[in-house]
Amino acid sequence: VSLRAVILAVTVALLSFAAFAGVKDQIAERTSPTGEICMAGDPCAAAVVEVVSGPRSGQEIYDGNCVACHATGAAGAPKLGDVAAWAPRIGKGAETLYANAIGGINSMPPMGLCGSCSEDDIKASVDYIIAQSQ
Ligand code: HEC
Repeated sequence: VSLRAVILAVTVALLSFAAFAGVKDQIAERTSPTGEICMAGDPCAAAVVEVVSGPRSGQEIYDGNCVACHATGAAGAPKLGDVAAWAPRIGKGAETLYANAIGGINSMPPMGLCGSCSEDDIKASVDYIIAQSQ
């Protein structure tokens, strides 16, 4: 093995690691609930805790987390306000919809990808969707 080959291999490894780290950062940024990453002890952390644990309305949860799919119909999501699409789902009963929103169903991800949501937050956002879609 020539020195050149070793240097090339190391360079490739470093570049792919850097690319991977960049993607990981992007994912962390996109999935960060407040759009801001705070470490415990940072001055911003106190505010984040307040935002995360404070009471949020179903609409706020929806606007922050569910809208990405349920406004556009992405991934086959039933759209907010689409009465025909929601009627058979609402017919299954609120408890079933809560359970499927919390646990996920097909392309509907568990908790609607809301990492900072409690189960009650999810139920509130399901209630909001139901109220807007019948
Ligand atoms: C990544 C896209 C995506 C996100 C984000 C998302 N949903 Fe969904 N949701 C879907 C899809 C797709 C379906 C249809 C699943 C199926 O029935 O095949 C669905 C279905 C549902 C249903 C109907 C379940 C049933 O039993 O018929 C409820 C209720 C629901 N979503 C609530 C939510 C709530 C509340 C949020 C936000 C907290 C949310 N979703 C976020 C994609 C998403």
